[in-house]
Amino acid sequence: MTDAAVPGSHAGLFITLEGGDGAGKTTQAVLLEKWLTDAGRRVVRTREPGGTEVGRLIRDIVLHHRGEVAARAEALLYAADRAHHVEAVVRPALERGDVVIQDRYLDSSVAYQGAGRVLGTDEVRRLSMWATGDLLPDLTVLLDLDPSVARGRLDADDKPFDRLEAERESFHARVREEFLALAAAEPGRFLVLDATRRPEELSAAVQQRVSALLG
Ligand code: TYD
Repeated sequence: MTDAAVPGSHAGLFITLEGGDGAGKTTQAVLLEKWLTDAGRRVVRTREPGGTEVGRLIRDIVLHHRGEVAARAEALLYAADRAHHVEAVVRPALERGDVVIQDRYLDSSVAYQGAGRVLGTDEVRRLSMWATGDLLPDLTVLLDLDPSVARGRLDADDKPFDRLEAERESFHARVREEFLALAAAEPGRFLVLDATRRPEELSAAVQQRVSALLG
């Protein structure tokens, strides 16, 4: 695998947050958005699945459908959400010069569908590359967390588990291993952080890396 897109190949900056369920991605996205907007940057904060109206319909199927969804259908649904989201929201924002902060992107598909569902990581990555016209993030923050710790956080939340969260521990272990393998293969794109650290400490580490990218 080659290293990621050169920052600046589009006018804006594309930052994604990845990690298992319960790793604290949304908290970090909110903190980063605040820091950037306070500094006068225009920010679009978004997520997958469900960053568009079409995406919200797809999100409902992949996360809340009560019966079976074939693994390949699940991979295609995430890819369809991504294709539409990139064309409708992400590329226009990057072309305007905005910073896009996004909760989950193609690495989630590679980890969850490629490794978790064992569909094959290379194939799932190719599917997302086709769906997005080869758009890779400038920076991907991986919040790494032991799945059993994550499970404790989700239990404490007291919300019903969605289809993916309800998967067994071995599934989540494969997802975590794949995220770490992806980060090791593209060290220039990834920033790996220990998600058990305090949110403010994590945020400071993210800010340092983003500052370097913004020059
Ligand atoms: P997320 O929005 O992070 O969940 P929540 O709103 O509960 O925090 O992600 C929803 C789920 O979808 C999560 O379990 C990971 C999964 N997912 C995939 O399996 N493949 C993908 O490509 C994406 C983007 C998410």
